[in-house]
Amino acid sequence: MKIQGYPDPGGGLRLHLNENTGGCSPAVLDAIRRVQPEDVSTYPSYGDAVLACARHFDVDPEWVLLTNGLDEGILMAAVGHIARAKIHDAETVIPLPAFDPYPNSTAAVGATAVRVPPARDYVFQADAVLAAITPRTTLIFLNTPNNPTGQLIPHDDLARIAEAAPQSIVLIDEAYIEFGGTTFLPRLARHPNVLIGRTFSKAYGLAGMRVGIVIGQPPALDPVRAVTLPFNINGVARAAIGAALADTTFLPRYAAQVRESRTRLYAACRRLGLEFWESAANFVMVRVGETAPFIQALAARKVHVRDRSKDPTTPGCIRVTAGVVEHTDAAIEALESVLSLRRSSGQATRHAQ
Ligand SMILES: Cc1ncc(COP(=O)(O)O)c(C=O)c1O
Repeated sequence: MKIQGYPDPGGGLRLHLNENTGGCSPAVLDAIRRVQPEDVSTYPSYGDAVLACARHFDVDPEWVLLTNGLDEGILMAAVGHIARAKIHDAETVIPLPAFDPYPNSTAAVGATAVRVPPARDYVFQADAVLAAITPRTTLIFLNTPNNPTGQLIPHDDLARIAEAAPQSIVLIDEAYIEFGGTTFLPRLARHPNVLIGRTFSKAYGLAGMRVGIVIGQPPALDPVRAVTLPFNINGVARAAIGAALADTTFLPRYAAQVRESRTRLYAACRRLGLEFWESAANFVMVRVGETAPFIQALAARKVHVRDRSKDPTTPGCIRVTAGVVEHTDAAIEALESVLSLRRSSGQATRHAQ
């Protein structure tokens, strides 16, 4: 069933949206409990939250824009740099496979997405991205680690692309960077056309709060700020931000669980003879063949994973969130039982009914 246009799998182990399977820091819940009536009855102000983020990311507060999830930041980057700037025949460059909001935001502002096909192993193709840049390129979406492959983009490639396209904005989406790789933030001062996107939805476990951050120098960030609605983060979510950043033990503990979960998923794939890609993020992409009966059989065991097969660049693939180890073990058990049924019958579809 679709609710608000989005599929809702119902109850069970949610491994289809790369959420934090362990919830959030108890300090966040305490901060939410301390919310006062006037925090709810008045429009929020963001001073403390922006300053906390600026301190955490070691940037000027003027370089920080809080958004209603990074999803909003992506859309507003397109609105600010393409629609508001009234750029006709604008193009965006999107290496594939890609997070859907990049092409969707491109289409929403009437621009053309120039899609860069992946290599067979999904290793980032900097030269192909450079070749796709034209004088009409307004926005370049780069995602590291990539959703859904988990591949990282080398910092030197990011810098090379930003320097090759000074007339374009390069949005580096680091939604999953806390799980692997390193942030481009220390190099941001050298790149006035770069925006870095971060989110509280994944490592911090605040997907339900909807808080993202776009960080960049004023020439890149101000047009995004100009189109972002003034009270885009609600008063409860605002209270969660400082508490999430202040709990310095939550994130490393969870990242360690994710690393162990990835290792167990790799081992399971090797045992089961499934192709997979080592990932720097909190998910692993696995090729299972015909996905629909497989996913239905997992769902019948209350394990929900993401079908990637409709994207022609990831045929026969699913994406499985790697979270708390205990959850991963449950998912692996379900995977093993679905596969052994499939193998013993030789007819995947029968078991999907
Ligand atoms: C690559 C990437 N960027 C951005 C987001 C958006 O995150 P949010 O809007 O929850 O902050 C996601 C969420 O799945 C993602 O996978």
